[in-house]
Amino acid sequence: MITPSTPFAPFDDVLITPERLKQRVRELGAEITADYPGSNVLLIGVLKGSVFFMADLARAIDLQLEMDFMAVSSYGNATESSGVVRVLKDLDAPLAGRDVIIVEDIIDSGRTLAYLLELLQQRRPASIEICTLLSKPERAEVEIDVRYTGFEIPNKFVVGYGLDYSERYRNLEYICCMDETNLPAIEPARSRAQVEEGHPA
Ligand code: IMP
Ligand code: MG
Repeated sequence: MITPSTPFAPFDDVLITPERLKQRVRELGAEITADYPGSNVLLIGVLKGSVFFMADLARAIDLQLEMDFMAVSSYGNATESSGVVRVLKDLDAPLAGRDVIIVEDIIDSGRTLAYLLELLQQRRPASIEICTLLSKPERAEVEIDVRYTGFEIPNKFVVGYGLDYSERYRNLEYICCMDETNLPAIEPARSRAQVEEGHPA
């Protein structure tokens, strides 16, 4: 497991431990199970940040559910989204008549989700709700009705458990804050052969 003391891990504090993540995901799963008796809920994961959360949440829900994924890109820099959203991968199946739950990693300004919600509502689902692992209430710019929230966190840039900084650090088992005044340079990806040849890190 990659821990904060791993040499390349430039992290300050662990904000949410693996144990707290597991516990909260179990609670959210139980809540969803109780809210949708008999329904074949359709979970829609927003790639890529939600993959770990989605996989754990789905297994914490005791219903015959289905899963689908969407990829959107919100233009912006490494740490801020602009609210201009483009669909990179659409859903495989129609939403008409379905009970839909959008599964997100984090709501920051809320712009990405506001756009997605509007887009998916046009497809006439029977119901649509949002389940986000994290939200940063201080940053909210757009008002959205979020039914399920894992944790409200302070206005800090976080990585781990699916969340990235320039595509790295998704595979941490916990959520931690990065020092925004001192963000690390992200080096290009190296292959094993390049490492063996002594290619610089
Ligand atoms: P929003 O449109 O401002 O709500 O931004 C939402 C998206 O920005 C999320 O789905 C993440 O991909 C990304 N994002 C926002 N805050 C963070 C963060 O603290 N860490 C990693 N990604 C973030
Ligand atoms: Mg991201």
